[in-house]
Amino acid sequence: DGACRTSVMLTNGKEEVIKSCVSLPELNAQVFCHSSNNVTKIECCFTDFCNNITLRLSTGKNNIKIWGPVQLTAIIAVPVCLLSLALMVTVFTCHGRQRANTKAKKHSLEEVLPDHTFISSGKSLKDLICDLTTSGSGSGLPLLVQRTIARTIVLQEIVGKGRFGEVWRGKWRGEDVAVKIFSTRDERSWFREAEIYQTVMLRNENILGFIAADNKVDNGTWTQLWLVSDYHEHGSLFDYLNRYTVTLDGVIKLSLSIASGLAHLHMEIVGTQGKPAIAHRDFKSKNILVKSNGTCAIADLGLAVKHDLETNTVDIPLNHRVGTKRYMAPEILDDTINTSIFESFKRADIYSLGLVYWEIARRCSIEGSIHEEYQLPYYDLVPSDPSVEDMRKTVCEQKLRPNIPNQWQSYETLRVMGKVMCECWYANSAARLTALRIKKTVSQLSTQEDMKI
Ligand SMILES: Nc1ncnc2c1ncn2[C@@H]1O[C@H](COP(=O)(O)OP(=O)(O)O)[C@@H](O)[C@H]1O
Ligand SMILES: *[C@@H]1O[C@H](CO)[C@@H](O)[C@H](O)[C@H]1NC(C)=O
Ligand SMILES: *[C@@H]1O[C@H](CO)[C@@H](O)[C@H](O)[C@H]1NC(C)=O
Ligand SMILES: *[C@@H]1O[C@H](CO)[C@@H](O)[C@H](O)[C@H]1NC(C)=O
Ligand SMILES: [Mg+2]
Repeated sequence: DGACRTSVMLTNGKEEVIKSCVSLPELNAQVFCHSSNNVTKIECCFTDFCNNITLRLSTGKNNIKIWGPVQLTAIIAVPVCLLSLALMVTVFTCHGRQRANTKAKKHSLEEVLPDHTFISSGKSLKDLICDLTTSGSGSGLPLLVQRTIARTIVLQEIVGKGRFGEVWRGKWRGEDVAVKIFSTRDERSWFREAEIYQTVMLRNENILGFIAADNKVDNGTWTQLWLVSDYHEHGSLFDYLNRYTVTLDGVIKLSLSIASGLAHLHMEIVGTQGKPAIAHRDFKSKNILVKSNGTCAIADLGLAVKHDLETNTVDIPLNHRVGTKRYMAPEILDDTINTSIFESFKRADIYSLGLVYWEIARRCSIEGSIHEEYQLPYYDLVPSDPSVEDMRKTVCEQKLRPNIPNQWQSYETLRVMGKVMCECWYANSAARLTALRIKKTVSQLSTQEDMKI
C-alpha cells in the first residue's frame, strides 16, 4: 500500500532495485524486499537496526494442489516461525522502550540505543575524535558511536541550503554540530560524501571535521540521511565575504588555510597509513567554511574523486561534467579534459581556487580605503545562473578572466595574490601552479611586513 517506496541502492558495486515497505510503526522496524528479474522468489528482511532477519518466500507458482503431510507441516511451521520472529522483534523493542519516556518519542531509536550505554557522559566530541586519531584506526568513529551521537542530537535551526537538502545547526551535549540532511532520493550522495570524509588520514584542520553519518527511519515512512560535522558559525566563505571586508592579514590567513586544505586533499601519501590523492571537483566559496579564528575548512566533498594508485584510475564511474558552471575550468567547459589522468582533476580545482582568491582579495580593505563590494567571479561577463555555453564562450573562446585591479600592484600581498591567480587561470592546465606551490608562496607572504610599495 502507500507505505512502500522503491529505491536504487548500490551493493557491492551492483545496482539493485529495492522495494522497501516501512510498516509496523510501533516496532520501528523496516521490511526490505528484494526481487530479481526471476520473480519466483522474493527476499525480505526485517531490520530494526538490532535484528536483521532474512526470509526467503516462494510466491507459490509451483505449489502442488494436493498437500501431503510434509507440505502441511511446512504450511503450519512457516507462519508459526514468522509469528515467533515478529514476537521476538516486538519483545526486543518493548524491552528497550521501558526506560524511555513514551510521550517524548522524537527520535525513533533513542530507546534502543540510550547514549550512556556507549559514550561515557564526560566525553566531548573533541575527546572522541582525539581517541580516534591516537588509536590510529581509520578515519571515522565506530559506526555504533556515530549512530548514537546522531540520534541524540537536537536540531536547532536551518543554516544553509545547497544541492542536496538542508544544513542545520544542532546540539549534542551542549556542543554545536552541523547536520546535513539529505532527502531519501539522494542516498547515493549521502553515502558517497560519508565515504570520502572517512578516507584514512584525511583529517586536517583545513578540511571540515567529520563526526558521524546516520540513516534513521524518522516517522514511519521516511528515512532521514544525516551527515554530522563540526559547526562553524560564520558559515561559508561566500557568506563571510558578503558580510565583512578583510584586512591584508585576513587575506593571507584565509588564502593560506585554503591552500593548506587543498594541498592536503590533493596529496597522495604512500604507505600503510597512506592517503589517496583526492580532487574536490566543486571548489567554490560556498563550499568553504570560515572558522571563528579566520581560517578556513574545505567542505562539501560529495563530488570528490579518489585516485586509485594501483590501477591509476579514479574510484567511481565519472558522470559527465559535474560541479558549478561558473567555477568550471576551461578544459571542462570545452570538454577537452583528459580524464584518464588524475592530475587533470587537481588542475581543474586549482583554476577554481584562483577564482576563490579573487573573491577574497576584492574584499580587502586597507586603512579604510579601497575595497570593492562582494561579487561572484565573472559577475560582469556572464548572466546570473550562466549556462555551460555562456561560460565556454567567455572563458574558452574570448579567453576572458576576472579583472585584476591596478591598485593591487601597490601592496605586496595583493600583488603576489594577483600573480598567483593568473597562474591558476592558464588555459593550459599543465602550466598552472600546484596547491603545494601556492601554499608555500602564500606562507612566505605571511612572514613579511605588509607594506605599501
Ligand atoms: N559545518 C557547517 N557549519 C556551518 N554552516 C555550514 C556547514 N556546512 C554547511 N554549511 C552551510 O550550508 C551550505 C550548504 O552546505 P554544503 O555542504 O555545501 O551542501 P550542498 O552539498 O547541498 O551544497 C554551505 O554553503 C554553508 O553555508
Ligand atoms: C514524514 O516526514 C516527511 C519529511 O519530514 C514528510 O514529508 C512526511 O509527510 C512525514 N510523514 C508522516 C506520516 O508524518
Ligand atoms: C585557528 O584555530 C585552530 C584550532 O581551531 C588552530 O589550530 C590554528 O592554529 C588557529 N590559526 C590561527 C591562524 O590562529
Ligand atoms: C590522455 O592521457 C593518456 C595518458 O597520458 C594518453 O595515453 C591519451 O592519449 C590521452 N587522451 C587524450 C584524448 O588526449
Ligand atoms: Mg555545496
